Amino acid sequence: MKLPTFSSSVLLLGGLAITSCSGGGGDAANEILIGEYGSLTGTTATFGISTKNGIDLAIDEVNAAGGVLGKQLRVIVEDDQGRPEEAQTVVTKLITRDEVVAILGEVASSRTLAAAPVAQSNGIPMITPSSTNPKITEVGDYIFRVCFIDPFQGFVMAKFAATTLKVRNVAILTDVKNDHSVGLTQVFTEEFGKLGGRIVARESYSEGDTDFSAQLTSLRARNPDAIYVPGYYTEVGLLARQARQLGLDVPLLGGDGWDSPRLTEIGGPAMNNSYFSSHYSPQDTSQLVRRFVGQYQERFGEVPDGLAALAYDAAKLLADAIARAGSAEPAAIRDAIAQTKGFVGVTGTISINAQRNADKAATVVRVAGGKLEFVETIRQ
Ligand code: PHE
Repeated sequence: MKLPTFSSSVLLLGGLAITSCSGGGGDAANEILIGEYGSLTGTTATFGISTKNGIDLAIDEVNAAGGVLGKQLRVIVEDDQGRPEEAQTVVTKLITRDEVVAILGEVASSRTLAAAPVAQSNGIPMITPSSTNPKITEVGDYIFRVCFIDPFQGFVMAKFAATTLKVRNVAILTDVKNDHSVGLTQVFTEEFGKLGGRIVARESYSEGDTDFSAQLTSLRARNPDAIYVPGYYTEVGLLARQARQLGLDVPLLGGDGWDSPRLTEIGGPAMNNSYFSSHYSPQDTSQLVRRFVGQYQERFGEVPDGLAALAYDAAKLLADAIARAGSAEPAAIRDAIAQTKGFVGVTGTISINAQRNADKAATVVRVAGGKLEFVETIRQ
């Protein structure tokens, strides 16, 4: 399915990405090159665009303050179009052609999982701002993340469903092409079961699908109190509309993959009365978050979503690690990232644990009247 609203700006971004990449190597005396890869186009385009915005804001701040080790940071961006094979190809290019010393990305777990082995085998540190599937950092000692993982996020929604919403019979709709969705389905099923809930139906779809009526009709027959849909925003928005048309008015529940300004544009009022787990809230009143939201809004004209916030933190943390390493050698940067403790970010305080993950709190967000509202914070 095509999403016309994005076409022109996205094509432009794609073009810029390609031209800014030719040449490679960079000006080693004055610059430190960092790679970034993400979905600047495709059905998850807001993931890549928000991430790019967050990284740009962070890197410009670092450079304006004098850069790192007396050099400016330069980010080379590649569009993987939301495809795992392409993610692997562009990460190979960033490493072998551009000779970046570290990589930021991806958002979607399936794409990060495809590309992480390339970074690992080449000894280039990679930080994913937002991929939550546990297998990612298991790829090896060069792979890190600054977000929580799906076992926690699945627990958060199961607990919220059972204790706050007090629902008992839940149906699940899984994107079977998406490692993140498959993982969350498993965790939610286990955790909701432990809390006395029942999974009364399961159906599946694949990223890119546009017609969910068969699955929804079959779920409807089991009379669920809520439907857990741990997928990405484009499909979730579309299926929410179809669910409501079929008379399925129960709350929809989801994970961080819902987090996009496009969710309510695509889903419209059908998204109301739905909840998802997320990484931060732009309504947070701390000074740090208020400053970030203000600067982001001023520059990009919209409220930063969780991806923009995580990307900002990942880029700042990387710059901090390079400074602490005292060297732009990939191995030294790796060690400094691994030693990160108490880094204060807009998504919370980040300490990298022994598994190269970050233990952080999650927020529950409610969709109401076309807006995202903060409901509560759930800690580990
Ligand atoms: N956690 C999702 C994944 O691993 C990606 C995501 C993070 C999407 C945050 C939106 C917001 O696939």
